[in-house]
Amino acid sequence: MKRGFDPGCSEEPFRSLAQEYPGESAYPPDQFRVEWGPIFHRGRLDGSARVLVIGQDPAQHEAVVRRILVGEAGRRIQGFLAKLGITRSYAMINTFLYSVYGSVKAATRKNPVLVAYRNRWIDALMASGRIEAVVGLGVSAREAWELWKATPAGQASTVAFAAITHPTQPESASGKDRAKLEQATKTLLANWNLALSALAPAITHPDVPRPIKPYGTAWADGDRTPVPEGDIPAGLPAWMHEQDGWAARKGKDDLAKRRNITITVPKGVVA
Ligand code: URA
Repeated sequence: MKRGFDPGCSEEPFRSLAQEYPGESAYPPDQFRVEWGPIFHRGRLDGSARVLVIGQDPAQHEAVVRRILVGEAGRRIQGFLAKLGITRSYAMINTFLYSVYGSVKAATRKNPVLVAYRNRWIDALMASGRIEAVVGLGVSAREAWELWKATPAGQASTVAFAAITHPTQPESASGKDRAKLEQATKTLLANWNLALSALAPAITHPDVPRPIKPYGTAWADGDRTPVPEGDIPAGLPAWMHEQDGWAARKGKDDLAKRRNITITVPKGVVA
């Protein structure tokens, strides 16, 4: 049985981007978990992407898989793309290369080195001329897009853009309060429905032509879809892209949690 995998940044200009990424001078360790390294992308780097997703920053699952948006947020956005008929022709980058630790200062967000490097990624992905829509997850992604739009290439581009509520904003905003989580999820899904309607006309080359089936008021079966095998590096076990929740930052204090990611093989994989 042949398995799919993602070759990563093997071809130019992505090869150079993976060789020349900014480090601690642009990403201060008091604001980013630089010790876990940069995580660049997920999806197609071969010019076939029709939709570009800009996320926020990688978390613990991403630090293991070395691809972005492979945890719960990734499964939700995978489902969003599927509703647009996009099952393969997408590329994803994050606003930040490294996982955010605490909060990011405005001066860091606007650091010209950080912004210029991210703009090189956007330039490289837009260069194919095939991207039909861009989706920004949350406020930092919207800012990333606006900073690119201010460049000459950005000004010349007419590609459709939608900023949507970040996929895990309901969990971040509601603590452990179930009623708040339900309300925030309902609000997110209404926001995503608006974006589906706005973006659908721009996507003229879907992988799977389909009428938009809007979200309801809570997550339904099929709204969250697994990360495809073809998006992850060769040889990773299937449960790493089929399941979520297998990586956690554990430790007795913040420093210990920062230094540790515990991976637990999901129940049912080993008898
Ligand atoms: N993981 C990512 O890589 N990006 C996000 O925005 C959220 C989770």
